[in-house]
Amino acid sequence: AARLAKALVDEPPYLVKDGGVIREGYDKTVDECRRLADGGKDEILAIEAREQKDSGIATLKVRYNRVFGYYIEITKTHLAKVPARYIRKQTIATGERYVTPELAELEKKVLTAEETLLAREAELFKAEVMAVAEVAAQVSAAGAALALADACASLADVAARRGYCRPVVDDGLVLELTDARHPVIEAMLPSGSFVPNDCRLDPDAEQLVLITGPNMAGKSTYMRQVAQIALLAQIGSFVPAKAAQIGVCDRVFTRVGAADNLSRGDSTFMVEMRETAQILGKATRRSLVILDEVGRGTSTFDGVSIAWAVAEHLHDAIGARTLFATHYHELVALADSRPRVRNVSVAVREHKNEIVFLRRVVPGGANKSYGVDVARLAGLPKQVIARSREIMTRLEGGAQLGSTTQLSLLPTAAPSPVVGKIASIDINNMTPLEALKLLADLKALV
Ligand SMILES: Nc1ncnc2c1ncn2[C@@H]1O[C@H](COP(=O)(O)OP(=O)(O)O)[C@@H](O)[C@H]1O
Ligand SMILES: [Mg+2]
Repeated sequence: AARLAKALVDEPPYLVKDGGVIREGYDKTVDECRRLADGGKDEILAIEAREQKDSGIATLKVRYNRVFGYYIEITKTHLAKVPARYIRKQTIATGERYVTPELAELEKKVLTAEETLLAREAELFKAEVMAVAEVAAQVSAAGAALALADACASLADVAARRGYCRPVVDDGLVLELTDARHPVIEAMLPSGSFVPNDCRLDPDAEQLVLITGPNMAGKSTYMRQVAQIALLAQIGSFVPAKAAQIGVCDRVFTRVGAADNLSRGDSTFMVEMRETAQILGKATRRSLVILDEVGRGTSTFDGVSIAWAVAEHLHDAIGARTLFATHYHELVALADSRPRVRNVSVAVREHKNEIVFLRRVVPGGANKSYGVDVARLAGLPKQVIARSREIMTRLEGGAQLGSTTQLSLLPTAAPSPVVGKIASIDINNMTPLEALKLLADLKALV
């Protein structure tokens, strides 16, 4: 660094070919070329002073024009004193103009100075680059060490300023948080206004926590904060909570928000299903799974059915710790048939026909979706809101809408005759020949 500081200017240009890279006083050639490129003023003054002295002509001037370049001008009164070595170039009304080999030389230097300067700067710069390249490994190791220190210091700083706690990360499978907060939303809200919440997940007891509650209640926020805390804890950071115990997760799977991939021709629903398929394929009992409104991308009936089946599979087959948010409150019935499903909801209160979000996660499922209320909050026209309530009342009374039911894309096929045939095989009482014959029969059936 000391070497670079000596050689380079404080703020070098982006490109070496712009020049002005090398610091003044570092290299003689560079300094001289810069002076010359600037018109060689010092040299000219020096030559002028010397020629005045040598010739004894005090009014002798060194000048420049485009035609001759540098020349010496002498007024008529002093022509007799002109030295013999001067080469006369032009006679003017007031005197004569001369050049000397020295001036011609200077002129050439001035004209080429710019080029020489750039070349020399590039050469010197390259030398610096080579010197740096030799220690590149040390430089990047130092950079990495600094980056690590910076990241740790930042985490420590946030932890100290925002009252984080030191989590316990162990080999168990329980994830338990007390008064957990969302690290980002908490910081965006006025201090103290974020409502902290607890969370407990345990593959043996509360494995799948189903979070219901109207839109805007705070479901997504709650789930994301749990995932972020697990992640923070596992990278060794303090976490935004009063207390936290995290049985190490092998992976955190999330299916949140719909970052559409329409440019690639995928619909929101397709993306959602593909991600869900990935999760179901890869999650283990040690994973943490966050599913936000799975099934939202399609019609209500499809959506509820898919959400329901996905939740069942996570419970029955995978056993991963799961937070499952849905505004389909029908799903709360899942807890009746599945022992490790818990219902929680994000509390809202109705106050004088207004809906108030309490942001508090409480035991038990939501029994009402409040969608119409949220729509009203958002400013949908009065007539539309009133009409929605009317339709909803009728639907809740068991009425059918003409065209809500979607046809399934994949009709369930009738069982193939091959299946029946295979089911009836008695392998123990079969000769190899009969087996071959059967195989041929089966082949004929498909
Ligand atoms: N615990 C909380 N304390 C304070 N505000 C919250 C809390 N949780 C959520 N919010 C606010 O509510 C908004 C909606 O929350 P979100 O999680 O998106 O709701 P949902 O997923 O239920 O529709 C958030 O943008 C946030 O500003
Ligand atoms: Mg949400």
